[in-house]
Amino acid sequence: MDQVAQVREKTDLVSFISEYVPLKKTGRNFKAPCPFHTEKTPSFVVSPERQIWHCFGCQKGGDCFTFLMEYENLEFPEALRILAKKVGVELSQTPFQSGVSSKKEKIYILNRQAMEFYHYVLTKHAAGKKALEYLSKDRHINPKVLETFMVGFAPANGNALASYLLTKKKHVKEDLIEAGLSFNKTGRIVDFFVNRIIFPLLDHRGNVEGFSGRVMDPKLQPKYVNTRETLVYHKGKVFFGLNMAKDEIKKEERAIIMEGEFDVMSSFQEGVGNAVAVKGTALTEAQVNLIARFCPKVSLCFDTDSAGQEAIVRSLLAIEKKGLLCSVVVCPNAKDPDEAVQKDSFAFKQAVKHSIPVYDFLLEKVLSEVSVKSAEGKKRASDDLLPIFNNIENEVVKEHYLKKLAQEIDTTYESVVKQTQHFAKQAKEDVFIKRAKDARSRKEIIEEYLLSLLLQYKIPQQIVEKIQKDNILFSFSVPSYQKIAEHFFSYTKAHSTIDMQVFLKGLPSELFDSFDRCYLLPLPLFIDDKAHLEEILKIEKELYLVSLRENLKKISDQLKKNEKEETEEFLALQQEFSRLTSLLSDAQK
Ligand code: GTP
Ligand code: MN
Repeated sequence: MDQVAQVREKTDLVSFISEYVPLKKTGRNFKAPCPFHTEKTPSFVVSPERQIWHCFGCQKGGDCFTFLMEYENLEFPEALRILAKKVGVELSQTPFQSGVSSKKEKIYILNRQAMEFYHYVLTKHAAGKKALEYLSKDRHINPKVLETFMVGFAPANGNALASYLLTKKKHVKEDLIEAGLSFNKTGRIVDFFVNRIIFPLLDHRGNVEGFSGRVMDPKLQPKYVNTRETLVYHKGKVFFGLNMAKDEIKKEERAIIMEGEFDVMSSFQEGVGNAVAVKGTALTEAQVNLIARFCPKVSLCFDTDSAGQEAIVRSLLAIEKKGLLCSVVVCPNAKDPDEAVQKDSFAFKQAVKHSIPVYDFLLEKVLSEVSVKSAEGKKRASDDLLPIFNNIENEVVKEHYLKKLAQEIDTTYESVVKQTQHFAKQAKEDVFIKRAKDARSRKEIIEEYLLSLLLQYKIPQQIVEKIQKDNILFSFSVPSYQKIAEHFFSYTKAHSTIDMQVFLKGLPSELFDSFDRCYLLPLPLFIDDKAHLEEILKIEKELYLVSLRENLKKISDQLKKNEKEETEEFLALQQEFSRLTSLLSDAQK
């Protein structure tokens, strides 16, 4: 057995995934809310028998390796190394270790060397002197913090990094370009970052995904530029500082979310070590999902300008969806956390300690802006706040704030609730839009459900008996489902129970994907096997009706086209039409 298979074999997928996600047993599978997208009802399924996982919401799936790769953002070789170590399989020299690294791994290596180069220039080289002075004298960042965050400087000379990486480190131009570090300018290779302070952007495992660069000269625009999208850098998916803050975030059970690099570094310097920066304004869903792995609470500490305040509201939806508790840190007399720390670090730390629950914060803010004595003021307050309160997941919390709002604007709770129904309607429409996105036909969806009902039924013998007794023909229009069903029936005719391993041996491997989908598809809970069997028969009939109607439609279309000619074909069609019509009316009885 090769080493990959050996590691897979030795890894118990259920207990392995349990280390990351709270799995609950349902029937023969385990379920949880998917760690890879936001959802309320769990559609992430792990099968102990198949040793695979699949999410029916985002359609991701695979084995222990793909789970780890997806969850920890790893490349295959690294996932293999980690799992091998875990289960005690000694890896011999594999091609992965002998320098043939993937493109992503190569970019990580290049980025790390670039980070070290920039940091060297800032801290040791004459070219970085002015930037270093600016950071320490104007921004009061001490050398230790600069080292912790590996802050650097990109020299004004247009290709210092490229020539370092090409001549000293023997890389090739193409790789520098692929990493987004340099680009081609009329045949010459030039650096992407020039004359800027450099902040490396590390993922939570310490891989250098990219950089952001801040100008030194305040007249230049834009103030910040980030690495362009590469194989490893994706805008809106990283936090500045997460790698440094993650232990403190776990310990404190809270992350403080700020806007910028200086906000985070200044806070860190003053002992607030659980802060990260979104580097833009609002939190994205990807960022919320990422931070939720480390803590159950977030505190938003955005700039006090209107953009920062709007970002609070825009971040909330994703935070609610993920079920995180949220509060707001109000920076005392400052435009942002950086300024607050510099002005009065004690007051800032107090503000961090006494963050305000986000809905109280928003309520207070809106009430301070309108006069609630007038009808217009009441309308404005409720127009602003109701869509926000209406999205609160927890019903008790929701009622708490709706009541509080009613009280503050001196109206009844009933009117407030009535008013929220406008928003509820809107939400329902969104669901329909989402559903329409499933491009498969209704028939395909029914077929998938039916096959899943069959494959997950404990006593296949009963189905066989029923089929023979009632002469039922299970027929699927999706070829892979039809083939799986045929295998299933020939297997069950010979065996009273299903041994998956044996069954799968007889199944062509190109059918495994479809099989796994149906074997894992979450089904409704049936009180007993009888109820399950009844559902099978009900759905089989529904499918039969759908097919009959489809065929009828086809034939009637053909008849319309043929109308004038009394051909043999026409008569045959007519006969078939009346046969199907009577079948349909029989079936509907
Ligand atoms: P500093 O003097 O750098 O602290 O600026 P600031 O606090 O006035 O920055 P601001 O509040 O404007 O920006 C906060 C964060 O948003 C920055 O740290 C950047 O990460 C990001 N940002 C600001 N301006 C830009 C920009 O022009 N482009 C991009 N991509 N990001 C920006
Ligand atoms: Mn700022």
